[in-house]
Amino acid sequence: MSGVRIVMPSEMSLLDGINSLRSVRKFKPDPIPEDKLKIVLESASKAASGSNTQPWEFVVVRDENVKARLMEPMLRTWLARLASGTGMSLRMRDVYDEATEMLRNTEKVPVIIYCCVDLSRVGKSEEVMYASIYPAVQNLMLAAHAIGLATCLTVHGSTSARGEPEVKRILGIPEHVKVACLVYLGYPAVRLGHPIRKPIEKFVHNDRW
Ligand SMILES: Cc1cc2nc3c(=O)[nH]c(=O)nc-3n(C[C@H](O)[C@H](O)[C@H](O)COP(=O)(O)O)c2cc1C
Repeated sequence: MSGVRIVMPSEMSLLDGINSLRSVRKFKPDPIPEDKLKIVLESASKAASGSNTQPWEFVVVRDENVKARLMEPMLRTWLARLASGTGMSLRMRDVYDEATEMLRNTEKVPVIIYCCVDLSRVGKSEEVMYASIYPAVQNLMLAAHAIGLATCLTVHGSTSARGEPEVKRILGIPEHVKVACLVYLGYPAVRLGHPIRKPIEKFVHNDRW
C-alpha cells in the first residue's frame, strides 16, 4: 500500500463518519496542517473511477489573494441566480443566507479545493465523467471529517453560468479540464447535529418500483 498510514488519537468508525457528516459553512481561521491535507487528498485518490482512469485533478487554494479573486465570479453568478430564482428551491431558502455568507467569506476559508476532471483521461460520456469524480469527492469529505476537519461541497465555478471560465483563467486550469465542484475545508467553527434525511422506506424499492 502506498502512502498514508492514518493513525488518529480518537478514531471515528467509517459508519459513524458517514452518519454524522454535515455541510459546515463556518470555519475557524486556523490553517490546516499539510499532513492533514495529505490524508484528505490521498483518501480522495483511493476512490473508484471508470476503468480506473482516475481522471481527477485537485486545485488546492490556500492563498488569500487568489481566493479573493475567485470569490468575485462565484459570488456574482450566485447572487444573479438568487435574484432570478433560477434553480432555487423554496425548501432551501433558509440555507441560502448561510451559503451566501460562506461565499462572501471565501478568502477567509483556510483551504478551498476545486475538484476537476481531466476530460482527456475519461470516457466521452458525461455520466462516466461525473461518476468518476464524485466518489473521490465524497472520500475527501469523509476523510476530512474523520480527522476533525469540516467541509462544504458547492458547485460554484463548475459551469459558465457559475463563473467557470473566470475561475479556470484565475487558476490556469487548461482547456481540457472541467471543474466538477468545489469543497470548502477548514476546522469547524460550529457544531452541527446529525444529518436530517428521509427514512429509507421513502425511496427504497424492493424487487420492483
Ligand atoms: C451538488 C451540491 C451542491 C451544493 N451547493 C451548495 C452551495 O452552493 N452552497 C452551500 O452552502 N451548500 C451547498 N451544498 C450543500 C447542501 O446544501 C447540503 O448538503 C444540504 O443542505 C444538506 O445539509 P447537510 O449536508 O448539512 O446535511 C451542496 C451540496 C451538493 C451535493
